[in-house]
Amino acid sequence: MQSSLDHALNYISSYKQAFSSKEIQKAHEALSICYRAKGRTQDINEEAMIAAYVSARMPATYAAMDMCFQMIKNVFPTSILDLGAGPGTATLAALNLWPKLKIAILVEHHAAMSRFSKGLLNSLNLETRFEHHQKDITSFSSPKEYDLVTLGYVLGELNQEQQLAALKKAWDATKEFLVITMPGTPHDYQTLMFARDFLIQNKGYIIAPCPHRNKCPLQETNDWCHFSVRLSRTKSHKRAKKGELSYEDEKFSYLIISKKETDQNFTRILRKPIKRPGHILLDLCTADAIKRETVTKSQKDIYKNASKKIWGDEW
Ligand SMILES: C[S@@+](CC[C@H](N)C(=O)[O-])C[C@H]1O[C@@H](n2cnc3c(N)ncnc32)[C@H](O)[C@@H]1O
Repeated sequence: MQSSLDHALNYISSYKQAFSSKEIQKAHEALSICYRAKGRTQDINEEAMIAAYVSARMPATYAAMDMCFQMIKNVFPTSILDLGAGPGTATLAALNLWPKLKIAILVEHHAAMSRFSKGLLNSLNLETRFEHHQKDITSFSSPKEYDLVTLGYVLGELNQEQQLAALKKAWDATKEFLVITMPGTPHDYQTLMFARDFLIQNKGYIIAPCPHRNKCPLQETNDWCHFSVRLSRTKSHKRAKKGELSYEDEKFSYLIISKKETDQNFTRILRKPIKRPGHILLDLCTADAIKRETVTKSQKDIYKNASKKIWGDEW
């Protein structure tokens, strides 16, 4: 049986067929210039730009959101509010993990993007009730609360005043979890810290990545908190990006915040573990500081466990 994701991929692939590879490449270049110059995609008003986004960016933004959802996979939300939904990335990732989702509300201010997500999600033939609101997330008022609210790769497209407005709307509408994803750059990390401060002040409990609610220890350094997810590239993905590699590593930052108080009994592996003969070095975010832990072969089971760990895992 085909999954929601398979149906979605078929829809995306037939949508892209209306454009030649050259058109998609050109639109992707325009999109990249737009990101680099202004850090925003408000200028996406061509269907070709959407084809470029779903070819070249959506696989990565999907992978980042999916990685976050995997961390809360046992919560089984029944409703999602997808803010700055774009082509419906977060909703699609949620449906793939939780096919019994009853309600999905997508808010996206761009008309063509909103039309695209409508076509994509309707093509899945699910019983989920979808609502598409072509509105601004800084002023969208939700009459209800949703189990899961997402701000996927959108905060960076807003100025600080708008970010605050969007965060307030998102948090007001959150019943249980708010998930924020951002590109893994130092600048986006600062934006995420702004969101983190706001949410902690408003009684938010961090599920991940931070093992504490104290000030982020990386804010005092030249480093920034970010992670990586590897995704394989399809032929059209490679063509859109003019790349040869069969995979790419998406660097991203994220926050998963809960309205319910949670215990945080872990540390977080902040960088790729360094494997040396006879020992492994782990750089960890702990409640009081960034600490380096050395795990030696003589620690047997602990060493065995450490050797399986990757950047971003809990320890
Ligand atoms: C980089 S895309 C991310 C799309 C999707 N969430 C994802 O992760 O792939 C950002 C999206 O947010 C939308 N957007 C930006 N500012 C917005 C606003 N103020 N209100 C509603 N949508 C907005 C853009 O039109 C674009 O579709």
